[in-house]
Amino acid sequence: MVRVKLENLTKRFGKVVAVDNLNLDIKDGEFVALLGPSGCGKSTTLLMIAGIYKPTSGYIYFDDEVVNDLPPRERNVGMVFQSYALYPHMSVFDNIAFPLKIKKAPRAEIEKKVREVARLLRIEELLDRRPAQLSGGQMQRVALARALAKEPSLFLMDEPLSNLDAKLRILMRTELKRLQKELGITTIYVTHDQVEAMTMADRIALLNEGKLQQVGSPDDLYHRPSNMFVAGFIGSPPMNFIEGSLEKREGKIVFTSGELTVELPADIADVLKDWISEDVVLGVRPEDIIVGCERGFKALVYVVEPLGKDTIVNLKVGGLIIKAVVSGVKYNINDVVNVSFNLDKIHIFSRKNGEALV
Ligand SMILES: Nc1ncnc2c1ncn2[C@@H]1O[C@H](COP(=O)(O)OP(=O)(O)OP(=O)(O)O)[C@@H](O)[C@H]1O
Ligand SMILES: [Mg+2]
Repeated sequence: MVRVKLENLTKRFGKVVAVDNLNLDIKDGEFVALLGPSGCGKSTTLLMIAGIYKPTSGYIYFDDEVVNDLPPRERNVGMVFQSYALYPHMSVFDNIAFPLKIKKAPRAEIEKKVREVARLLRIEELLDRRPAQLSGGQMQRVALARALAKEPSLFLMDEPLSNLDAKLRILMRTELKRLQKELGITTIYVTHDQVEAMTMADRIALLNEGKLQQVGSPDDLYHRPSNMFVAGFIGSPPMNFIEGSLEKREGKIVFTSGELTVELPADIADVLKDWISEDVVLGVRPEDIIVGCERGFKALVYVVEPLGKDTIVNLKVGGLIIKAVVSGVKYNINDVVNVSFNLDKIHIFSRKNGEALV
């Protein structure tokens, strides 16, 4: 297995900076998700690690060795793409055997290895079929088996589950995570789906416009987002953002936005004392809004969206619509309710640059 380090990694295509000065340290055996919206540079990063693209500047290390000039076939990486890229005219067996044949492995060894990975991925009975005779999930397993057969020390996957239907995607998510943990192969997994990244990865590197926004455990990104982009990207329904300012009132620090006034708890207030009269944004997740409490501010129920177990209640506060997630209680459109925020869970961001202040 291998440790991967990206140092000031940059890729330009003409004027487009696809990857902008990326620094990332991926531990031996770790599962890291590269997450971000379309066009943020995820695939470009992966292709540089695979050796298919050459970095414009910066370095890629495998353990302590700079691999910038190492050709792809000498990097010992297994790649799985969204399209699977199976060879249509070859049987499943030959597809899986292909990288081993290229390596000129002996016939008997190829036979043994193909059967071994086929057993691991439960596709033994499919070895004689052609890709056209497989379901999406089966094709996906064949692509994985082919990547596994060459015993890579690094797995690179680019949206490998996005062609599957929702149910199969959830199943394969679990299987892939289990497989990665069993084999302990360092894995870099590209996705734009925050749920996939959250559920599968040990750590997530969130990119936007080629720049790393934050890297950390799913818990870190969810509970301690370093800026508004991270806060808004992770979580569904997304965090509510309320623009306002900070004021000092009777020795306390309050957040105000129109009619809405929120007195901040002492620990947050202490950190924010240098930001009085600054333009800020208060962030609160839908599950951290308490609806139907005794105290708090008045809000009008605007729309109710049942999800089965929980319900999203859209609340009108002044000119603002905020989303709360509640369970159990039923509300109707135009109900007037009392609402408050779980103050231990609120976030305050600078409106100037979106950075988290607390
Ligand atoms: N070969 C190329 N030539 C020119 N520009 C490119 C090339 N490949 C990528 N880009 C540009 O670089 C940026 C990053 O592209 P990249 O494919 O890495 O995004 P991505 O994060 O994988 O997006 P998606 O989720 O849509 O696959 C985009 O603006 C894209 O248009
Ligand atoms: Mg891509």
